[in-house]
Amino acid sequence: MDTGSASTRTCLAIVLGAGEGTRMKSDLPKVMHAIAGRSMLGHVIHAVTAAGATHVAVVVGPDREDVAAEARKAFAGAEVFVQRERLGTAHAVLAARDALARAFDDVVVAFADTPLLTADTFLRMRGALHGGNSVVGLAFEAADPAGYGRMIVQDGQLEAIVEHKDASDAQRAITLCNAGLLALEGRHALAILAKVGNANAQKEYYLTDAPGIARAMGLGTGVLVAPEDEVQGVNDRVQLAKAEGAMQKRLREAAMRAGVTMIDPATVYLHHDTKIGRDVVVEPNVFFGKNVVIDDKAVIHANSHLEGAHVGVGASVGPFARLRPGADLGEQSKVGNFVEIKAATLGKGAKVSHLTYIGDATIGANANIGAGTITCNYDGFSKFRTEIGEGAFIGSNSSLVAPVVIAAGAYIGSGSVVTKNVEANALAVGRARQVAYPGWAADFRQRNRDRTKK
Ligand code: UD1
Ligand code: CA
Repeated sequence: MDTGSASTRTCLAIVLGAGEGTRMKSDLPKVMHAIAGRSMLGHVIHAVTAAGATHVAVVVGPDREDVAAEARKAFAGAEVFVQRERLGTAHAVLAARDALARAFDDVVVAFADTPLLTADTFLRMRGALHGGNSVVGLAFEAADPAGYGRMIVQDGQLEAIVEHKDASDAQRAITLCNAGLLALEGRHALAILAKVGNANAQKEYYLTDAPGIARAMGLGTGVLVAPEDEVQGVNDRVQLAKAEGAMQKRLREAAMRAGVTMIDPATVYLHHDTKIGRDVVVEPNVFFGKNVVIDDKAVIHANSHLEGAHVGVGASVGPFARLRPGADLGEQSKVGNFVEIKAATLGKGAKVSHLTYIGDATIGANANIGAGTITCNYDGFSKFRTEIGEGAFIGSNSSLVAPVVIAAGAYIGSGSVVTKNVEANALAVGRARQVAYPGWAADFRQRNRDRTKK
């Protein structure tokens, strides 16, 4: 009989997002702290939906509208349940009783403070359910098992999970530990959870009682093993940084496997949504913020900072460039050292090579913006646009006072302050005319030498 694949079965993911995380020493709830620019809660919701969860229920503590909003941001249809009292992980899962009662094929329970779990692992858990298990636990071989629940496995069945505080010495010698993640067959989930009691060392309703209860009901149970670094939880900022490091490594390796060259990957910081094309070279010390797209064959030179930017095919950025939101660099364009670009479009082959600020501007194809050019886009109240046509040439150290249009092919003399529009192919010079006084310098020196007797 075909029991159906993960793609055809409905799946409810219950994400436990409660927990203030007092060890974070933060005004922000623990699960809203970010890794690669996305909250831990967001990562977990993303992983479960990528594993085919058709419905997401997030359990939060009382008065946590911020966590609820974050959950909906990650998955618009997320349903939020409040656990009024913190009476244990099974109690938390049962806060989502209304969702559980809707009879999903698969139910997976995830902890929002375990942000490195992959969609692949959730899929494997679901696969193990379809193999005839009613409860599947996720385990890892712990380097230091202290504090974790221990997996009691016999003949391939997960007979029980015993919390560290309730374990005998013999059980404590087991190093196969509970990662926390649990998958349950939807049709048995409520019946199993209803049987969980709180007769244990912590007087809590333990989700970890589920496998033992399922066995007593004559149901099959299973265990899957994941690498320890994937199941690491985050309780303080030291662990947050460790998880960030692991996530960065994962993102860099995915980029390199997709055809990106990183000369010194450990110094490249990626955002979870960074998109980099094939044959792009990223030099050392580059920071990618939110929403950056780099097309094929571009080069991001060392020490550049990019955020909300698009870099076209074969374009060159940096070294020491800053691309801010709305920077849109055309094919084969160039942004050189100590250049800042914000809300500006550069046409194909346009060059902004040195020491320049371009903000709120459109720059035509093949225009050349000389060193030290500044778009004066802000008068303290409003922002104004600068338009530079195709093939225009802006002489070095010019100030372009927006709003202003410099039409195609125009030249701007170096050091100009441009306040009026310039027509196509014209030369505009807006600077004080040079005056020369022959012999003045020699006279000046002589007068002063006489006076000071040097
Ligand atoms: C849990 C497991 C343990 C496992 C460990 C892995 C249980 C009983 N124990 O222990 O076997 O080795 O995770 O890290 O499940 N939560 C609520 N409401 C509650 C209690 C907890 O939402 O009333 C949430 C927490 O915010 C957290 C998660 O459930 O996200 C786990 O709770 P926690 O108290 O950290 O469990 P551990 O003692 O770490
Ligand atoms: Ca924990």
